[in-house]
Amino acid sequence: MTVALVGAGPGDPGLITVKGLQRVRACDVLVYDRLVAAELVDEAPADALRIERDHLEQDEVNDLLVALGDHHDVVRLKGGDPFLFGRGGEEALALAGAGVPFEIIPGVSSLASVPASAGIPVTHRGLSSAVTAFAAHDVERLDAAALARVPGTLVAFMGLAGLERLAERLIEHGRPAATPAAVVSAGTTARERVVTAPLGAIAKAAEDMPTPALVVVGDVVSLRAAVQRAGQRGAPRSREIPRAASTTAAETSGSRFRRSRRSFGPATPTAPIASVRRSKIGAATPASPSSASSRSTA
Ligand SMILES: C[S@@+](CC[C@H](N)C(=O)[O-])C[C@H]1O[C@@H](n2cnc3c(N)ncnc32)[C@H](O)[C@@H]1O
Repeated sequence: MTVALVGAGPGDPGLITVKGLQRVRACDVLVYDRLVAAELVDEAPADALRIERDHLEQDEVNDLLVALGDHHDVVRLKGGDPFLFGRGGEEALALAGAGVPFEIIPGVSSLASVPASAGIPVTHRGLSSAVTAFAAHDVERLDAAALARVPGTLVAFMGLAGLERLAERLIEHGRPAATPAAVVSAGTTARERVVTAPLGAIAKAAEDMPTPALVVVGDVVSLRAAVQRAGQRGAPRSREIPRAASTTAAETSGSRFRRSRRSFGPATPTAPIASVRRSKIGAATPASPSSASSRSTA
């Protein structure tokens, strides 16, 4: 049995990888982040245990994965890519330390996909040949002088709450207040919203934007209008999950486990998986029943 640390992509459920979707459709237990698309949570088998991670501390998540991974096929579904501000490294180290087999299935990070969805290429020949991604939840601790100086595009994660101070600090340290900037909220989803403004005015412009939001600073933001005109304007937002990659849980019902395993590992089923899953998980799960989400099928 194994744990798959799977990147769910930035929000549009169609942006999960084929391999990641296969694992979701074959899991016994799905431990997922709140921001993961509901459509992907629904792709787990009907009788899989679903646990929303956000009620748990990181140590509890690590312990849960270790406890369950010994006996079950567990998918840890994380927003974007597991290893980019996703604490996937901590979970991988906990599993490695406990000797639990695991695999890492990368995901489409919001880093480039969310700006792209808004019509902003994070690099562009002649405008930007470097991207600096950083966590901006604690603006005072950032090396603002280095960020102001580094050439190319800045992409700030978790930067909405401190955006006013972030902009101030970048400007204080030499980034021109006129530098184009954007905030993209809920990028790649039907709720996507984008505002653009010069760095000196971006905090005010983004005042009522909801999270999750990514802040992009750099000349590439100025390409957005032309890119939108050229192609993306009015493009429908997909909520589609690819069907061709694998059969769906609903389509395969009882034979799902055997069929989906075939594509990525040796066939191992010995007993009807639903009964194995329910009884063993009940014994192994350290989390209290209240930590299982309302989407749980229990
Ligand atoms: C804890 S980090 C996780 C990043 C994730 N591992 C990734 O690779 O995209 C969460 C932050 O990512 C950014 N983010 C993730 N998804 C986003 C989206 N769809 N739209 C805008 N920002 C997003 C926001 O800055 C959010 O606060």
